[in-house]
Amino acid sequence: MDVATAQVKCLWFVARQHPGPMGRVVLVTGGAGFVGSHTVVELLEAGHHVVVVDNCINSTKGSDPQELPPALARVQTITGKTLRAFYMVSLLDRPGLTKVFAKHQVDLVIHFAALKAVGESVEKPLDYYINNVTGTLNLLEVMGEAGVKRLVYSSSATVYGVPQYLPTDELHPTGVGITNPYGQTKYVCEQIMKDLATADKEWRVVLLRYFNPVGAHESGKIGENPSGPPNNLVPYIAQVAVGKREALSVFGDDYDTPDGTGVRDYIHVMDLASGHVAALDKIFSEDFRSAIAYNLGTGQGVSVLQMIDAFKRASGRDIPYKVVGRRNGDVATIVASCTLAEQELGWRATRNLQQMCIDTWRWQSQNPDGFM
Ligand code: WQD
Repeated sequence: MDVATAQVKCLWFVARQHPGPMGRVVLVTGGAGFVGSHTVVELLEAGHHVVVVDNCINSTKGSDPQELPPALARVQTITGKTLRAFYMVSLLDRPGLTKVFAKHQVDLVIHFAALKAVGESVEKPLDYYINNVTGTLNLLEVMGEAGVKRLVYSSSATVYGVPQYLPTDELHPTGVGITNPYGQTKYVCEQIMKDLATADKEWRVVLLRYFNPVGAHESGKIGENPSGPPNNLVPYIAQVAVGKREALSVFGDDYDTPDGTGVRDYIHVMDLASGHVAALDKIFSEDFRSAIAYNLGTGQGVSVLQMIDAFKRASGRDIPYKVVGRRNGDVATIVASCTLAEQELGWRATRNLQQMCIDTWRWQSQNPDGFM
């Protein structure tokens, strides 16, 4: 090898090891989904280059395979920036995934792609373990082979099971009392990543444990777009408000909470999105340790009845509801302690309940049929 070639190779190596502070190449799995698409907005706004991999089984596809899914086309409109690439590839397609990593010098992966319907996971556990766990194993192996060992993982407060204390911090035991296969897959994937980071010190992983993501981008152009009847509270309320569904069923009013209904820590999806950019910065910082979990929530508990009331005010619509029995697997209350994320990521949620409802309503009322 001549000297000039050796120098170029060396410079390339240095650039890979010590990329500048801005403009990382970020591969986002599940980037066409709800939290994924909002995070892509924040990444593009922060000056990063984004490659999206999504099989679109749970998100609206483009009208032909060459076309971007509408959520990502709208992300480009919102930001005025262009994605580096989009691949309609499943994480179960290892050769396909390997090709994507061969085409791009990826600096870091943010991994959202997963099935996430709790009830469905009880009926079809194998689908959940295959998609979420096998998909993640494929991704980790392909990343390792490509020498990409920086990862932000989309985890969930569900790993805490039934909380033993409130607000729940990251020291709370995980993997105990998880009531459904979806939750188990999040826990198992966390464990796999922790073991990997223990075995190979080059891995730098942030596990982000989301509480209850709601809201939408303030433009009203992107938001949550459930297929079929929504499983989660806020999308259901939004569809009642817009007239697509008759009434909300409130799952129990006899919990040990101030008004008897379940209390959750709802977080605006744009706050969640900025948490991912903060996690990315943390991974590139000098002092970063192997695999660290952070809660992303607000620390504020909101009951089902309080949410109904807030949404009524934001939308000016009536939200008819009836109280029915408790839903299997629900806990009375879970609220996050977000001190660690504040101290170590320099991140905190800034949008309140009213903002969450206003932005959800803007998205729902402007797009009653989602991305159609
Ligand atoms: C919130 C509250 C319900 C629907 C789930 C997953 C979790 C995470 C987020 C991510 C509860 C009540 C709901 C309805 C109701 N998953 N409710 N009527 O269960 O806290 O968390 O979503 O991908 O892993 O478990 O959220 O929005 O379903 O419920 O009364 O029609 O609203 O009982 O108290 P949950 P949720």
